[in-house]
Amino acid sequence: MCGIVGYLGLNEKKEILLDGLQELEYRGYDSAGIAVIEGNTLHNFKAIGKLKNLREKTKNYATKGFGVSIGHTRWATHGKPTELNAHPHLGQYSYVVHNGIIENYQSLKEELQSKGVTFLSQTDTETIVHLFEANHTHNKNVFSAFEETIERLEGAYATLLITEADSDTIYFAKHGSPMLVGFHGDDVYFASSDTPIIGKATAVYYLDDGDYGYASKGKLHLFDANGAKAFTKQALTTDKISAQKDGYRFFMEKEIYEQSNVMTDTMMGRVLDDTIRLDELEKDFFKDITAIKICACGTSYHSALTSAYLFERIAKVRCDIEIASEFRYKEPLLTKDTLFITISQSGETADTLEALKMAKRAGLKSLSICNVDNSSIVRESDASILTRAGIEKGVASTKAFATQTMVLWILSLYIGQEKKTLSKETLETEINAMIHTPKALIVSDTLHEKLHRLSKRYLHGHGFFFIGRDIFFPLALEGALKLKEISYMHAEGYPAGEMKHGPIALADSELFTIALMPKTMHYDKIKSNVEELSARDATICAISPLPFDLADDFIQTHYDSHPMLEFFEMMVVTQLLALEISVRLGNDVDMPRNLAKSVTVE
Ligand code: M6R
Repeated sequence: MCGIVGYLGLNEKKEILLDGLQELEYRGYDSAGIAVIEGNTLHNFKAIGKLKNLREKTKNYATKGFGVSIGHTRWATHGKPTELNAHPHLGQYSYVVHNGIIENYQSLKEELQSKGVTFLSQTDTETIVHLFEANHTHNKNVFSAFEETIERLEGAYATLLITEADSDTIYFAKHGSPMLVGFHGDDVYFASSDTPIIGKATAVYYLDDGDYGYASKGKLHLFDANGAKAFTKQALTTDKISAQKDGYRFFMEKEIYEQSNVMTDTMMGRVLDDTIRLDELEKDFFKDITAIKICACGTSYHSALTSAYLFERIAKVRCDIEIASEFRYKEPLLTKDTLFITISQSGETADTLEALKMAKRAGLKSLSICNVDNSSIVRESDASILTRAGIEKGVASTKAFATQTMVLWILSLYIGQEKKTLSKETLETEINAMIHTPKALIVSDTLHEKLHRLSKRYLHGHGFFFIGRDIFFPLALEGALKLKEISYMHAEGYPAGEMKHGPIALADSELFTIALMPKTMHYDKIKSNVEELSARDATICAISPLPFDLADDFIQTHYDSHPMLEFFEMMVVTQLLALEISVRLGNDVDMPRNLAKSVTVE
């Protein structure tokens, strides 16, 4: 969570920091701040709320000449979103920004307070700067004082520190939270992901856990537990176009419309005429594997749930799904014949990353399905399959879910193919359906217009139930998550057949039921479940290729030949419905309250 940028060089620093933070704002937007040291002058600005507030506050400020600078956009973990709690945090003569959580901050804070240090904020981060200055008073070497500081930190962090005691240097450390260093001539950039430095830096180095050091005079001095460390820079991409809105009102809207195209990218080179190819996986990758366990969070968890049906039905491999934050503490029994799969859009989700580390410690082979190359989860995994969705900026995940689900579907066929549990006919049928997926994802004007009109009827009531069976149950969960994230209305996903075991008690005309009624999967069963709800006066919005008389609202879908095509077409409907309801309610679609795009805290 949160975003970090840093810059050392001659260029105007305020704009570099603010532009960089703008790229990271989706990661957290409770407050933002910057600190700059030029010569011996230190400037610091903070503002609560979105970055535009900080822009306003700094509009008369500009930097001149060489200097060092750090910036941060925050998603509150310790302490409320106030200016005092905003980063950068100040000591007597140093500033620090930090992502992650310092788990032992309370004991460090008490130790420092007992020596007379006054804390201004409620954050864990402030401990870093005071600890550094306390170390610096007895160890006049700034770098050694910084080293002593990070040695004492427990938890996950990526941190930058600037100090008047060494005013042309940025100190950095990374342990468990992402950070990279960009280079262009003598300019050095830091950031928690690469978007802020695209177009500025030309080469990049992705820091490893345990890396720390300092940047000075255009050079990076890198260390880890073994002392000085050599490193190799890589070229940094220059393509930022896909990160723009392209004329859509919201990133989420653009990303919904993009799904059809990105799906083609996801399949490219993998789905061939009569075979599935995954060059990412070594031959014999599945040798000795008899079961799959998948860990993920949120939307990625829903794509995992969908895939469990596919792995068992198509590949005939046992598959269990776990929410990563639950898995971590349940003392799971792990056996080495289990392939451990993690799914993550960002590749930085703390719970998923920690679950992966646990599985690795238990000796399991690991595979990640991820949208961000070089992310922590990708780097930690034995193998990874990228979803190729392009940058997803809307906090509410859309194209990431679609492409994850496609990769998992491809993987289920691949395993079936490798293990010879899949007939030629089934493979042909599945590939044929896959090839039609991009079409099923096209958003027609008629559909969007219809959902826009319908949305006005769903702005009140006491809640939504999204119901479905089989793979349409995880889709129901995902539809409900989308709606609640951006509309702030209560929505639940439920297995249609389970309503009669309790939730049906809630049914009345103010209970909105979004019924996923595919033709190709248990249509009669779900029809009965919806009839039961209709008989209790629930308001029914049916999504189906088959007309349904009892529906109060009906959205007709067109694909009715394969469950996955029905799945993807209905997915678009639920995404657009959530979007249009949120727009009508005047909510911030791309940055819904209390959320962040990448959840790098536990
Ligand atoms: O980056 P990840 O896929 O690991 O993120 C997991 C969840 O935080 C994420 O899917 C979240 O639920 C989305 N905001 C849902 O739209």
